[in-house]
Amino acid sequence: MKVAIIGQGYVGLTISAFASEFFDVTGFDSNQKIVDQLNSGVSHIEGVESSTIKKLLKKGSYRATSKGSEIRECEIVVIAVPTPLTSVRKPDLSYIESACKTIGKNISNPALVINESTSFPGTLRNFIKPTIEKYSSESIAHLYAISPERVDPGRSDFNQKNTPRLYAGLTPEASEETRNFYSKFCDELVEVSSPEVAEAAKLFENTFRQVNIALVNEFAQIAHSLGIGVYETLDAANTKPYGFMKFTPSAGVGGHCIPVDPTYLAAVAEEHGAPATFIRRANEVNLEMSKYIVRRVAEDNGGNLQGKSVLVVGVAYKPNVADVRETAAELVIKHLRDEGAVVSWHDDVVGSWKGESSAPLQGADITVVVTKHDSVDEKKILASAPHVFDTTGKVEGAKGL
Ligand SMILES: NC(=O)c1ccc[n+]([C@@H]2O[C@H](COP(=O)([O-])OP(=O)(O)OC[C@H]3O[C@@H](n4cnc5c(N)ncnc54)[C@H](O)[C@@H]3O)[C@@H](O)[C@H]2O)c1
Repeated sequence: MKVAIIGQGYVGLTISAFASEFFDVTGFDSNQKIVDQLNSGVSHIEGVESSTIKKLLKKGSYRATSKGSEIRECEIVVIAVPTPLTSVRKPDLSYIESACKTIGKNISNPALVINESTSFPGTLRNFIKPTIEKYSSESIAHLYAISPERVDPGRSDFNQKNTPRLYAGLTPEASEETRNFYSKFCDELVEVSSPEVAEAAKLFENTFRQVNIALVNEFAQIAHSLGIGVYETLDAANTKPYGFMKFTPSAGVGGHCIPVDPTYLAAVAEEHGAPATFIRRANEVNLEMSKYIVRRVAEDNGGNLQGKSVLVVGVAYKPNVADVRETAAELVIKHLRDEGAVVSWHDDVVGSWKGESSAPLQGADITVVVTKHDSVDEKKILASAPHVFDTTGKVEGAKGL
């Protein structure tokens, strides 16, 4: 069976690697550089090894392309393109729209179209299907389904095989074909009664994380004001064997999912006249955390950061990945600079970012740890400055939340 996967990023390439073991996969991406890199056997995504891509290319079950004509005869098409926010923090479906255009204009036979991109309930039924139909020849009736992606890049215990996968088709036939497709490389498939339930479940999963992260970030501030250790208190609460789930404080939330997906839920809620105040406030608390951290660092250093050299350790949004999308480090650096600090950053996993390069882990007045990759030595962090402030709870001996 011929499968096209639209978007060869974190989600699309990961799924391509699994699906290529069973199907003839064409990875379509609008970025020619990524396509060339993949066709030369180089992966740009953590968790998908270059050796895997090389093996699949050699076997002939995978190739990348930026030409719509090369997905013409595909029988299954998976959409895995970005769903960010616009500049006014509204859902931006422009990438999905462009993927639909590619599908509509090129797929010449009835296919099963599955959306894996995260979006609000109703996206498959009211946006993807009509948009593809707008660009397709009238005689083609595709099947449509949703299966929201749950991959967590950099994680080794859960992957495409052992993470249960939600799915729902717009018709029973679409549901059945979707099940047949994923059951080749996924152990547990969970069918829900409508695409809207699957779409909402994905948004709620990430909203659950967002509000709990905000809650623990607020609690970290309360604990500090009371002179209580936040980590000890969280560990104490975590001894309760039921009804509690431990989240840890941080400089904020980063990545393409947790800071973004809840806003998709809030936007659709507000459109329907339902309140989303809790989601909005959680977002604010998480964004304000960077300011709180800079205030704490300033307080610990005589109340003034003017002219101090500050080294931010870790600018990726989470440990052991090079992804800097929506990283909390960006706001921490901005607020430090607003206070007059001379800021550089150290992150050899990211390497270069915003026209700057990773600085050596040494010689600062103050070090602020935002993300701690496993490869970064704790002793070196402690030796990098006379004052080290750790927002991760991983650097023993440093000051912190
Ligand atoms: N990364 C994750 O951990 C994760 C987890 C679950 C869900 N998701 C969701 O999956 C979707 C994809 O996320 P991602 O992290 O893989 O994004 P990504 O930015 O890593 O990759 C997207 C790829 O799509 C390509 N692209 C953009 N527009 C295109 C188009 N019109 N046609 C073809 N290619 C196009 C880009 O060049 C890029 O390579 C988003 O909706 C995201 O919220 C991501």
